[in-house]
Amino acid sequence: MLSAKTLTLARCATKPAFLGTVATRLTHTLPDLPYDYNALEPYISADIMKLHHSKHHNTYVTNLNIAEEKLAEAVAKNDVNTCINLQPALKFNGGGHINHSIFWEVLSPNGGGEPSGDLKETIKRDFGSFENMKKELSGAAVGVQGSGWSWLGFNPNSGRLRVAVCANQDPLQATTGLIPLFGIDVWEHAYYLQYKNVRPDYVQAIFNIANWKNVADRLADAKEGS
Ligand SMILES: [Fe+2]
Repeated sequence: MLSAKTLTLARCATKPAFLGTVATRLTHTLPDLPYDYNALEPYISADIMKLHHSKHHNTYVTNLNIAEEKLAEAVAKNDVNTCINLQPALKFNGGGHINHSIFWEVLSPNGGGEPSGDLKETIKRDFGSFENMKKELSGAAVGVQGSGWSWLGFNPNSGRLRVAVCANQDPLQATTGLIPLFGIDVWEHAYYLQYKNVRPDYVQAIFNIANWKNVADRLADAKEGS
């Protein structure tokens, strides 16, 4: 899985570096899903999964690579204005790639139920109960205005769990310092084909396919790295 500690996303070296240096430029690649497009039915339809992964996520990857290419050119030319101008594209597409790479892994056709072990105990300590955490995370997801994400994150400074909301594709760690453990994508592309405008039903359905084992591994990594 993608480590919560570093979240090193899949990349492959395809292009020579600028100015003839020995290094090679790395490009991001779309990760394979860890299951088939229809594996999360009936909670998320195959149509949604196929579009979401092969079109939406892939577009973030493509545009992140374009933005990084432009950034490398601007850095090589010492063009600070262009470097600054590229920041929104890097944030949006980089965030989109990071967020979706996590999203696919924290869902599973064998998911659902409740966490166990340290994740269960940490949730109980910080929220009182699993149900309380679920209620807070769900409420935050339903309440996102426009497009965004609701996250269960780990604060490496306090050692505590927190629910947070991010607008658009803002990546949780880069914008809040929280390490992402479990996220709910509430962009309409994530649910509209199946749930239409009833976002609360989609949010509730997500918990039937939540991969708590993966979330527990992310928490363990986050605690180890803090
Ligand atoms: Fe999405």
